[in-house]
Amino acid sequence: MNQKLLFARAYETEAAKRIPETDRPLFHLTPYTGWMNDPNGFSFYNGKYHLFYQYNPYDTVWDAMHWGHAESSDLLHWTYLPAAMAPDTWYDEAGVYSGSAETLSDGRHLLLYTGVRKEGGESGTEYQSQCVAIGDGREYHKVMINPVISESTLPDAFDRSNFRDPKVWRKPDGTYGCVVGTRRENGLGALLQYESKDGLHWSFVGVLTENDGRLGLMWECPDFFPLDGKAVVLISPQDMLPEGFEYHNGNGTVALIGRYDEETKRFVPEQDQAIDYGIDFYAPTTLLAPDGRRIMVAWMQNWDTTKLSAQTESRWFGQMTIPRELSIQNGRLYQRPVRELEQLRSNEVRYTGVRFTDVIRLDGVEGRAVDLEITVRPASDAPLYHKFAVRFFQNEQFHTNLSYRPHESVLKIDRKFSGSRRAYIHQRRCLVPNRNGEIKIRLILDRFSAEAFLNDGEQTVTATVLTDLSATGISFFADGAVEIDVTKYDLIGGSNT
Ligand code: FRU
Repeated sequence: MNQKLLFARAYETEAAKRIPETDRPLFHLTPYTGWMNDPNGFSFYNGKYHLFYQYNPYDTVWDAMHWGHAESSDLLHWTYLPAAMAPDTWYDEAGVYSGSAETLSDGRHLLLYTGVRKEGGESGTEYQSQCVAIGDGREYHKVMINPVISESTLPDAFDRSNFRDPKVWRKPDGTYGCVVGTRRENGLGALLQYESKDGLHWSFVGVLTENDGRLGLMWECPDFFPLDGKAVVLISPQDMLPEGFEYHNGNGTVALIGRYDEETKRFVPEQDQAIDYGIDFYAPTTLLAPDGRRIMVAWMQNWDTTKLSAQTESRWFGQMTIPRELSIQNGRLYQRPVRELEQLRSNEVRYTGVRFTDVIRLDGVEGRAVDLEITVRPASDAPLYHKFAVRFFQNEQFHTNLSYRPHESVLKIDRKFSGSRRAYIHQRRCLVPNRNGEIKIRLILDRFSAEAFLNDGEQTVTATVLTDLSATGISFFADGAVEIDVTKYDLIGGSNT
């Protein structure tokens, strides 16, 4: 094994010992030690879920990308495995960037990733190509014929320095397809499709779909899969401009929903939407579970705030979202937390038809790791309320808010009172339709994050919240008269072992 990987493995096992369990979330994956960004190689292999990630074991900032590795039986209890890859060959010495995984016909595990190299010294030119490593779920070997898709084979119109994040899938006939993000000379993203008989030798099929200029510039981390009779493309566009309440500035995530034209081999988009409407969500990727579920996980972070929020005492930086089951309903992408989460529920507390105005607390409703279901409706015989809010991670000094204004149909997440001393983004709003003032909120809290699933997963709002762990309060606020049903469960039993 190469020295760089051996060194990283020795380092991470020692460094991880200095991170107490109590410093981590209970059931969200964090890096073994150091820095984590995109989820990579999310797959079901040999009876376990595998989740790799963009990884710098040595510091809590982005640098020298490795692949970290963890496995799980239920997508919630993760066991760390030794780092899978280090930047240790001529074609990936500047970084083992994002990629994906599939099972080969002989039962081995295929990793398809982007290798980055630099020519001409520090200020030279960067080249990105697609590479393969094959393994058994623990040890991986980069193949002799790497790079398997060299940037030199790119048609002239595309940028050889921006050619990355291959997503591989196995077709029903046993052959493989993959999609890779790149951009044209004008900076606009395009997704290229390739095919292969064995996962190693790839040929160019054509452009799957591309950016007409409306959705940011470069498209990172593509995914492409069938779902409920539709074809779905997921992209993480850079440099987005806001569009009403749908898209926000900066790095965004977009689901394109449409159909695949077998003849032209092009994706035909029909609709697009934000994947998540919160603050911290990027680079989502999916797997197909053995029971047919399409499950998505994303990096629970936002690139523009990484430098600022890394100023904690912590020895880890970056978390994954909770894995989410996807479906298409009424032409939209719906998300629900994986059903395995229900096995972590305990201490049920239930209230129905609680009518109130102003502020209430409900006995037994509090905690840092909870699954909270709330249905809000106008109190009978009362006019439509102006605002409803749930406050959580609360004590005398701090709270984070999810609030809803039914007259405008606007939902807002606000973490400005979460203990942050920095001027980064603390709020985001989105449009959430209601039926006569009724909305449903399922809020998953896990120590340092909040994920809200609205109206049974029609929309989601995700944010990291680093408030001191002693802030465990939850309260409800109404401007007007509302009636709420609340069910709370503690979520315990999850851990990063
Ligand atoms: C997205 C991304 C990918 C790249 C990786 C590098 O967050 O920029 O495009 O492969 O991160 O760490």
